[in-house]
Amino acid sequence: MSDATKTATLTIDGQDYELPIYSPTAGPDVLDIRKLYAQAGVFTYDPGFTSTASTDSTITFIDGGKGELLHRGYPIDQLAAKSHYLEVCYLLLYGELPSAAQLEDFESRVTNHTMLHEQMMNFFRGFRRDAHPMAIMVGVVGAMSAFYHDSTDPSDPWQREVASIRLIAKMPTIAAMAYKYHIGQPFVYPRNDLDYASNFLRMCFSVPAEDYEVDPILARAMDRIFTLHADHEQNASTSTVRLASSSGANPFACIAAGIACLWGPAHGGANQACLEMLREIGTVDRIPEFIARAKDKEDPFRLMGFGHRVYKNFDPRATVMKESADEVLDLLGVENNPTLQVAKELEKAALADPYFAEKKLFPNVDFYSGIILEAMGFPTSMFTPIFALSRTVGWISQWKEQLSDPALKIGRPRQLYMGETSRDYMDIENR
Ligand code: CMC
Repeated sequence: MSDATKTATLTIDGQDYELPIYSPTAGPDVLDIRKLYAQAGVFTYDPGFTSTASTDSTITFIDGGKGELLHRGYPIDQLAAKSHYLEVCYLLLYGELPSAAQLEDFESRVTNHTMLHEQMMNFFRGFRRDAHPMAIMVGVVGAMSAFYHDSTDPSDPWQREVASIRLIAKMPTIAAMAYKYHIGQPFVYPRNDLDYASNFLRMCFSVPAEDYEVDPILARAMDRIFTLHADHEQNASTSTVRLASSSGANPFACIAAGIACLWGPAHGGANQACLEMLREIGTVDRIPEFIARAKDKEDPFRLMGFGHRVYKNFDPRATVMKESADEVLDLLGVENNPTLQVAKELEKAALADPYFAEKKLFPNVDFYSGIILEAMGFPTSMFTPIFALSRTVGWISQWKEQLSDPALKIGRPRQLYMGETSRDYMDIENR
């Protein structure tokens, strides 16, 4: 971390305290409060971390006002247009774009780890058939620590590297198998002659009776979904992974914790929630009713797939994803799909409504990714698992960065306690 460039003075009860201020390479200055409790005996209060930097990082930068998302300095729209998911994985993990030889080596390392330990199939079979694929993924990824003992020690850089490659390589296999198990079809093994996205599509849609021909437009759209979800700095699931890892937990346990956090509808679960909302709306004529509900303060209903904690003008991932959605819908058509017709009309109606403009509520990445995945034939239950497999590289990159910090401490937030103060235990007969 850089040295402090200036200081702020905090006065409590007439006593001054100097707080160092750091100037980042991009983004707002950051006030260092680490010594505040030791010096002044007070905590700071910031539930939801709206003003708190939990770490320093060199991986991803977001300027929510400008709608900017940079990975290692490269804008997401350039990466989505010119790069592809595995190259972005390399960039996130190692800090620079790879040379041709480095990329070839990385791709071959990932490809050589796509299969799962055969015994893990039995583990899948322990779940109920109707289990949500996210529930299966949380369990299976956590259970990898029981199968891959030679890559569970986070203090060993070689084991960290092996675990990273294993997770990136196996996550599509795990997600596809969770899906196949969920719909009662046999597992489809990975094929190493296919690219990352095509391989995933084939593992999901091929059956022993009929192979699945991967359309290059769909493979490209799938790769873009992976790329656009690859990392997003210190969001809830990434912070969960960092917090879990700060205790020294093994990588598979940490990523399982990230998957669990991502599942919620305010985070990665929004793409599923969005499609369920579109189905509930059902027909284009009911859109005004739902827009009115979203604006009604008395009604907890929100338009899922709209709004973002950080992006307050537009989500740059959504801009690229919209292009892909248009391409996929042109290829596959929406005429016979009422959900997709509702999506197209809802987007128009919300963008034209002053309430959404004033509150800076725009369609986010999950709005369009949900539409693409629906058009491709994925059930809504698979939307969040696909987000999880895409985000795995971001979680791992942030996990590796944290572990390489010699000053790493276990994460231990403080609290503003508002409960009872000390009181004596009362025997049950006297209560
Ligand atoms: N529909 C209607 N009103 C909304 C919406 C929405 N989707 N989102 C925010 N608002 C209103 C909210 O009622 C509040 O109004 P008021 O100022 O009158 O009280 C105002 O906008 C600010 O809302 P907030 O909850 O303070 O904003 P936030 O930054 O804490 O929440 C959010 C961000 C993403 C949780 C929220 O916009 C939301 O719930 N959106 C729907 C869920 C969704 O699509 N999530 C995916 C996010 S992108 C994927 C990811 O990165 O995980």
